[in-house]
Amino acid sequence: MAAVRDYKTALQHLESFERKDGLSVEELMDSQTRGGLTYNDFLILPGLVDFPSHEVKLQTKLTKKISLNTPFVSSPMDTVTEADMAIHMALLGGIGIIHHNCPADEQAAMVRKVKTYENGFINSPVVIAPTTTIGEVRRMKEEYGFSGFPVTENGQFPGKLLGLITSRDTQFLEDDTIPVSEIMTKNPVTSLHGITLSEGNEILKKTKKGKLLVIDEAGNLVSMLSRADLLKNQDYPLASKSATTKQLLCGASIGTIDTDRIRLAKLVQAGLDVVVIDSSQGNSIFQLNLIKHIKETYPDLEVIAGNVVTREQAANLIAAGCDGLRIGMGSGSICITQEVMACGRPQGTAVYNVCQFANQFGVPCMADGGIGNIGHIVKAIALGASTVMMGGLLAGTTETPGDYYFRDGKRLKSYRGMGSVDAMQKGAASASRYFSEADKVFVAQGVAGSVVDKGSIKKFLPYLYNGLQHSCQDIGVRSTQALITEAQNGNVRFEFRTASAQLEGGINNLHSYEKRLHN
Ligand code: IMP
Repeated sequence: MAAVRDYKTALQHLESFERKDGLSVEELMDSQTRGGLTYNDFLILPGLVDFPSHEVKLQTKLTKKISLNTPFVSSPMDTVTEADMAIHMALLGGIGIIHHNCPADEQAAMVRKVKTYENGFINSPVVIAPTTTIGEVRRMKEEYGFSGFPVTENGQFPGKLLGLITSRDTQFLEDDTIPVSEIMTKNPVTSLHGITLSEGNEILKKTKKGKLLVIDEAGNLVSMLSRADLLKNQDYPLASKSATTKQLLCGASIGTIDTDRIRLAKLVQAGLDVVVIDSSQGNSIFQLNLIKHIKETYPDLEVIAGNVVTREQAANLIAAGCDGLRIGMGSGSICITQEVMACGRPQGTAVYNVCQFANQFGVPCMADGGIGNIGHIVKAIALGASTVMMGGLLAGTTETPGDYYFRDGKRLKSYRGMGSVDAMQKGAASASRYFSEADKVFVAQGVAGSVVDKGSIKKFLPYLYNGLQHSCQDIGVRSTQALITEAQNGNVRFEFRTASAQLEGGINNLHSYEKRLHN
């Protein structure tokens, strides 16, 4: 038996070991010896805790130019992200990518809804003409989700301000043909351009009005403040907003067929911040040409390209000029691509290899698919991802499209793959993600199913946020950025997980239990 050492020499003795305990990320991800790994195949070893978890910073980059306060992104799927999800993802510090399995005008209207849902100044308010009828105003209320419209002389923005219509003016009117000029408020509360947000807030408080219209010296409408938005603003300190316009950030997906260029023009007009080129196999000549077109036509628009799982795929898209990459092929919870196409890659290995390469060019990467819990998010980041895209984890929340229904005593919502026959039959956009738009017989790469009610993301995202902070604390890193760098430097250590280790890490030997994730 080895001699017992003096306990005071433990730290010196540690230094005498040639290697640190555990594996470096490079050793872990050596696919020649171990094959491809998924998130469940490994663990991160604990470090030293010398700071409180609430100090852990989660700021990250979505693209070269866009930063977020959290790494959370909702997937462009028609059972996950429409306007409501995108608004709340942005309010809570992430971003929503609005799906394109719908007509272009519908998708653009959703983008506009997110962009006009602004807590601060609304810099491109939707305006109407004096000749607009009450019936049209009611239709616009349905489309945009709000009911206060400034009236300008030419019905355009910018334009000379004539008055304001709100739901109070139209509520009890039965004749839909009356023009707004007859019933609008002709002297709404206005303020001169240059006013600060807090000054505007004070005016709204004093006047007890719902809208403050900001005008220039010539009486042209410049922007507008909404009382309800100002109140909401205080509740969302992490909100993802444009630094200049204060509008919420919004993303949307498009495909790579010709009509997608027309679609994109409409989305840009609606105020889109970032476009995600949605393809299951991103390394195509169609996508490379599309990136070049976007960069030439809309130099300020950020482009996330993908999907990719190898560094060769990534290199082509980086060379074409993309501002971010989306990683994953076959790892989604509704996905059967690997089974049917024999093509794809285990997600841990895909994220590691692509991030290793792309991060050298300053191109942030998003780990897309297979995120089933907080641990998976932490692991994706430790492998180099800046953000995570979630479909299944957010499915079933209040903000997803679709209604709840009951089956087997459970409250459920639908969740389906965009490559499922159901989704491909609904829209050509979904089929084009899989290059299937011309097919007579669809080859499904996804399934349609259901998930249980998860409540609102107003509670679920803060749960993910806090969980991520606690995990970083256990690992001993003060930020997600530090997690990436310290893993790279070999200071954050890993362990491969055998099949029995995975069993051990699960719940064992209970007669029954309830798995509640948060209060
Ligand atoms: P999840 O978060 O594991 O549910 O995976 C969501 C991701 O799966 C999406 O963001 C897409 O990249 C991918 N995906 C969506 N629909 C399909 C499909 O039908 N087949 C394969 N992958 C899909």
